Amino acid sequence: MKHRGRRFRSARTLAAQAGVGTDRSYGAVSAPIYLSAMYHYEAFGKHRGFDYSRAANPTRSALEEVLAELEQGTRAVAFASGMAAVSAALGLFGPGDRILCSDDLYGGNYRLFEQVLRPLGLVFDYIDMGDCARIEAAVRAGTKALFIETPTNPLMKIADLRGAAKVAKRHGLLTLVDNTFMSPALQRPISLGADLVIQSATKFLGGHNDLIGGAVIAADAKLGERLLFIQKAVGAVPGAFDCWLLLRGIKTLHVRVERAQDTAGMLAEFLAEHALVSRVFYPGLQGHPRRELHLAQADGPGSIISFELRNAAAVPTFLGALRTILLAESLGGVESLITHPSSMTHADIPAKEQAAVGLTSRLVRLSVGIEDAHDLRRDLEQALRATSRSRGRKNA
Ligand SMILES: Cc1ncc(COP(=O)(O)O)c(C=O)c1O
Repeated sequence: MKHRGRRFRSARTLAAQAGVGTDRSYGAVSAPIYLSAMYHYEAFGKHRGFDYSRAANPTRSALEEVLAELEQGTRAVAFASGMAAVSAALGLFGPGDRILCSDDLYGGNYRLFEQVLRPLGLVFDYIDMGDCARIEAAVRAGTKALFIETPTNPLMKIADLRGAAKVAKRHGLLTLVDNTFMSPALQRPISLGADLVIQSATKFLGGHNDLIGGAVIAADAKLGERLLFIQKAVGAVPGAFDCWLLLRGIKTLHVRVERAQDTAGMLAEFLAEHALVSRVFYPGLQGHPRRELHLAQADGPGSIISFELRNAAAVPTFLGALRTILLAESLGGVESLITHPSSMTHADIPAKEQAAVGLTSRLVRLSVGIEDAHDLRRDLEQALRATSRSRGRKNA
């Protein structure tokens, strides 16, 4: 890959040097933070590439260049949040257009689709994206795009990215992939045929649980131009400081993702063997549905593990007893976080629909960070033990 006149064999090198070469005045290694809202003209009708920071900002441009390369697209467009990015991507469609979506979506995506965009005339159909024949059969008059999460949030269902993109091309649909769970370090949907990739940069790209951000990356220049126009027209842009934090996060993306993934593999095995855990959803485990498909389209299983406790009533005790792992609604950062999807991240999905996709109140979702693996295992172990102690007390 080529970036700012330099050639790299690996995305690791590009990521580690994110933002290098952007300062032409002094050769700053860390990209400068341009806080200026506007840029004065050199002469009437002549500026230096930037006029107003909603339209373009040098720190944001440095971030967008790196993101486009990492996702193997032609153009990245940064937003103030992952939801602003999803919303901008859906801005490509209009009333009457149908979008075929994964049936186990992040609750915020579902909320945007059903409570904001459906009233504006877009129609969303939900199916299990793992089966291409089912996708083919679900395409109807008016279907304009596929919206895919793989692995899904939180049940870790796997879609066939290559197969889905082929179906989409046959029917003239766009393929949109929310790649937040994997990050470009592990999965690059554009290389598998997708047209647009969406990232909640709040997660793995930022990596430190200290910013909210998002991006859409387009495979082709024309779509990229349209997204750039939407970015400028709607104005949901990230500030320069957040762009710089993202550039800094990206420098360690691969190291963090790989380290967290190693620990997640060990913790998933531990949980799968634990008597108080009834099910573990993690594509790294033998027997996870479509595991081979996942490993054929991604570089690893990632660091998010969902699991069900045998006893739903034990969930509050378990979550309350954790000491190192923090009960919080996010993922992809250096700190391990755990959430209860049915009452937290996915609370806006009606109970009937949660039940239909298999999302139960016994399910918790763990985002593994980069802490010591044994500290994390010990924490899970003692919190699970606490649930059997409290059950013993209740039975006494
Ligand atoms: C898969 C997925 N997509 C999109 C988002 C939204 O991102 P943000 O919170 O940055 O708006 C999230 C947030 O949890 C997510 O998990």
